Amino acid sequence: MATVQGSLLSSVVKEKTSTPKNKVTIVGVGQVGMACAVSVLLKELPDVLALVDILEDKLQGEKMDLEHGSLFLKTPTIVANKDYSVTADSKLVVVTGGVRQQEGESRLNLVQRNVNVFKFIVPQVVKYSPDATILVVSNPVDIMTYVTWKLSGLPQNKVIGSGTNLDSARFRYLMAQKLGINTSSVHGYVLGEHGDTSVPIWSGANVGGVALQSLNPDIGTDKDSENWKDVHKEVVSSAYDVIRLKGYTNWAIGMSVADLAESILKNLSRVHPVSTMVKGFYGIENEVFLSLPCVLNAQGLVQVVNQKLTDDEKAQLQKSAATLWQIQQDLKDL
Ligand SMILES: NC(=O)c1ccc[n+]([C@@H]2O[C@H](COP(=O)([O-])OP(=O)(O)OC[C@H]3O[C@@H](n4cnc5c(N)ncnc54)[C@H](O)[C@@H]3O)[C@@H](O)[C@H]2O)c1
Repeated sequence: MATVQGSLLSSVVKEKTSTPKNKVTIVGVGQVGMACAVSVLLKELPDVLALVDILEDKLQGEKMDLEHGSLFLKTPTIVANKDYSVTADSKLVVVTGGVRQQEGESRLNLVQRNVNVFKFIVPQVVKYSPDATILVVSNPVDIMTYVTWKLSGLPQNKVIGSGTNLDSARFRYLMAQKLGINTSSVHGYVLGEHGDTSVPIWSGANVGGVALQSLNPDIGTDKDSENWKDVHKEVVSSAYDVIRLKGYTNWAIGMSVADLAESILKNLSRVHPVSTMVKGFYGIENEVFLSLPCVLNAQGLVQVVNQKLTDDEKAQLQKSAATLWQIQQDLKDL
């Protein structure tokens, strides 16, 4: 009997399947994973989106909910499964799986719990997408990026941590609020460790090419009568504030991950502050990951910007590096 489909559509090609070109996998479909998923979808980046978690019902529920928005999206295929075979041929794998910070818990406290989770996740990701760039979001992100690099056996350019990309976005937003102009017109970086010991680079903060430090030489110091230092204090405390108020952070990290994904998937070679292996930079002698301004494109993280740092800024990076290295020494089964 003739069907509507058979009568309506005449095939021109025999084989309808094709290899995805810009497949994105999100591992962990919690608050952060789904904010990343929605953000990359709304930016129309993936041709296939794969979701993986250990919670089967949650996976199917999230997949269905997104598919019901297919009219408004440009991603024709969304797949979801506990089995990593659905992630095959990904260009980018965003890892958000694991346990999140509890109210008042430091990111570093999470570490061994998340290492155990990653020992399962990372080999599966690499098995099915050996050429993918892995973008690590799970906290403590600098250590988890090191763990991913070690467990994956991938080259340095293919393993990136979201690092201080979010901290820098918060920094620019808060400076912009103080100045009464748009966030995108205030430039500046927070580098080093994502979180409590991140380092604001006041020497580089500028608007329209005018260095704020040229107008206020004391900017960011204790002598500064305008208290710009409080802006960075708020960058550090704001994650804790959001967690206290709503239980987790997700929207800003999701949008910032989509911005990184865009540079990678569209081969843009844009500069972002992200976590990379910093041995050899600024006198750091151990294999630790910290954020520096890096060039991201289809090959992953391809260059690091050699930023001139003050002795104090270098000392702060070295201190973070020493703390992270100490913690990494205690990690079991790496
Ligand atoms: N880097 C950043 O700037 C940043 C910002 C916010 C949150 N985070 C981190 O992101 C992570 C996720 O946060 P969240 O709020 O989405 O937590 P969540 O608890 O809502 O979600 C975590 C998800 O991971 C899943 N999961 C657990 N074990 C897994 C495994 N073995 N394989 C696959 N999935 C697994 C859980 O089932 C859950 O769905 C946390 O580590 C959090 O601290 C990082």
